[in-house]
Amino acid sequence: ATTAFAEESARGFVNVAHRGGGGYAPEMTDAAFSLLPSQHPDVTEVDVQLSADGVPVLMHDATLQRTTDVADVFPGRAADLVNTFTLAELKQLDAGSWYHDRFAGEEVLTLDDVLDYVQPHGIGVFIELKDPAANPGVEQAIADVMNADPRWADMIADDLVTFTSFDQASLKRMTALQPEPPLVWVNSTVPSDTVLAEAATWADEFGTHYRTLNGATDIARIKATGMRAMLYTLNSPDVMQEGLDLGADTLITDFSGALSAVESGG
Ligand code: G3P
Ligand code: CA
Repeated sequence: ATTAFAEESARGFVNVAHRGGGGYAPEMTDAAFSLLPSQHPDVTEVDVQLSADGVPVLMHDATLQRTTDVADVFPGRAADLVNTFTLAELKQLDAGSWYHDRFAGEEVLTLDDVLDYVQPHGIGVFIELKDPAANPGVEQAIADVMNADPRWADMIADDLVTFTSFDQASLKRMTALQPEPPLVWVNSTVPSDTVLAEAATWADEFGTHYRTLNGATDIARIKATGMRAMLYTLNSPDVMQEGLDLGADTLITDFSGALSAVESGG
């Protein structure tokens, strides 16, 4: 695995638009992804689960209740898991109105849809395997999507694809199927040096929630293993600056345009 795309970033760190830039528009929709080029992230992060018919789709939560009108369209199924809905059913949902009326009609998108928004602009993708234990087969489905469109091979060759998950076993299954993209293991806290050292034998980067971080000490412990250090989700200019000052290599934010401004002193 390689992290060359990161090393080539003129910023000196990687600016990741969390959930397609969910601070500006409903997460992981056309409205959010369409804003990416003007926000100047290096990468966008997406959460991937499987539809009932096996299509990798973009959805963060285990259910559709927070980010769609599922309760109106499928009364009685609102609390059902994402992976009990077919893609055709997901496409009947409004994924924008929950955020603001002006986003009415935004659709649930697939992983393959992301290509159209990032590949022409040289923007990378952090693909988070979200709740893979609840989405068995998601790794093979993602590999199948990538093998079906040569643009994914181009993205991978250009170091613009990264796999990430809280689930170590899922990352290992994913890299067995698609060995080139780097791996980012995320955990809500920084574990012991022993656990970090083991992770460094297979992961390229370790990510954690900035609020649980023990400052520069934890960043140093991560980097001492040879892994890069990633922090999520930094949404105010103050914490963005703090993350940069601590030496984090990758910052995830809902406001990638604001992070670009912090970095440039604007
Ligand atoms: O990968 C870091 C971040 O995306 C994890 O948080 O809950 O937004 O998926 P969450
Ligand atoms: Ca995520």
